[in-house]
Amino acid sequence: MTSLELYLHDRFVGLVEPDRRDKSRVTLAIDRAFRSDVVLSESFAAIPGRRPATELISNFLGGYVPEGNHREKMAAKRHVDQDDLFALLAEFGGSIAGAVTLRRPDDAQSREPSYAPLNARDLAALLKQALAESDQGVPDDSRSALPGYQPKVLVAKFNSELAYPHGRAHSTHILKPQVPGREHRIFDEFYSHQLTREIGLSTFDSKIMRAGRITYLAIERFDRTVDGDRVRLHHQEDLAQAMSLDWRESEVKFQEPAWPNDPRRATLRRVGELLGSIPEASALVEQWVQQLTYHVAVGNNDAHAKNIALVHLENGTKLAEVYDAVPNLFQDELINWNLALAVDGKFDLRRISAESIASEAASWGTIREARAYALVEQTLAALDDALAKVEPPREVSPGMTDRLRWNVMRLRQGNEISTPKR
Ligand SMILES: Nc1ncnc2c1ncn2[C@@H]1O[C@H](COP(=O)(O)OP(=O)(O)OP(=O)(O)O)[C@@H](O)[C@H]1O
Ligand SMILES: [Mg+2]
Repeated sequence: MTSLELYLHDRFVGLVEPDRRDKSRVTLAIDRAFRSDVVLSESFAAIPGRRPATELISNFLGGYVPEGNHREKMAAKRHVDQDDLFALLAEFGGSIAGAVTLRRPDDAQSREPSYAPLNARDLAALLKQALAESDQGVPDDSRSALPGYQPKVLVAKFNSELAYPHGRAHSTHILKPQVPGREHRIFDEFYSHQLTREIGLSTFDSKIMRAGRITYLAIERFDRTVDGDRVRLHHQEDLAQAMSLDWRESEVKFQEPAWPNDPRRATLRRVGELLGSIPEASALVEQWVQQLTYHVAVGNNDAHAKNIALVHLENGTKLAEVYDAVPNLFQDELINWNLALAVDGKFDLRRISAESIASEAASWGTIREARAYALVEQTLAALDDALAKVEPPREVSPGMTDRLRWNVMRLRQGNEISTPKR
């Protein structure tokens, strides 16, 4: 196979080919007839008849493939090199995040997308496989994948029945099994979903479920909608893609405290400036201030560039809902006070105040500090109410609600979070 067809929704964008000099790179020749109201990526302009820079298209498409041990294991199962971007896209580019799909020349004849019914026993087996083999539970013919380091399985749900997507059929839900030794994690993530739903920072559904002896968190995908027996896609790219961070370097989505200005890595300034450069800048930046306030208030030290996304729709670009926002600082083995991205130069959560968030936001150049401060206060007030109202699952990390209340109280008082009193 020498080329893949790149589609955005059902528009043909152009042909993707391997870069002969570097297996971690691909090229894209954009079709002369390509037209779209939906932005493909913030990292390059999709001009008909042109080829975006190889580095930019590679970082964009590379941002959709599995990461870390998932990439290693999934590539090995297909007998391809985990650094070979074209091969990864040929294997797993059939259904990825957003509305970009990569089709193979042989798709038309032999590879119709299809769904198979999924009973509890088979589902438990898939979840176990995802846990034991770090391979997203994929069978030989699956062409779907998502980034991220947590074990996960992608399934579709039609009329409350689960189905397994074969070939390049699209999933509608992400299932995260409970990881032995980290029993609280999925409950912590679920509690965070309850809170963000309550304060309007997310709308997607989620539930804790069981299949056989496996407990899992089922997360509805905001980049899919079920329409009868069809799955409609909504385009998304994460901020690592939008900023064209090197897809081969898993660490660049985090800022490095020892070298905070490393130009290869994400920073809140870069995120804020990128959002500020999009036509919908003022709404995007305001939403991001609210989301950032939430991440800080719940002690999510994993709000890195791949956990922030843009949704590109026909009527413009929006900030994706809050996802993967786990109150990590309450998981026993993860007590590391450093945030993924420093706020106003501070990595240590205990040093952050409402003023730090507002001052950080003002430095992006799109929003006034007083407006940012008002958004921080509004978000904290809403979260305070939500904490009083939402009953957390019993299985959240011990002390979770007390710690969240502490953070919100300190921030609302205008103080640094500091270390909670025991
Ligand atoms: N509700 C959702 N709807 C659509 N896409 C989502 C949703 N949640 C996550 N994603 C996409 O799936 C990817 C993986 O999900 P998620 O970030 O939850 O996984 P993870 O393995 O916990 O990640 P990490 O390695 O950051 O801990 C995300 O980067 C994002 O592209
Ligand atoms: Mg993630």
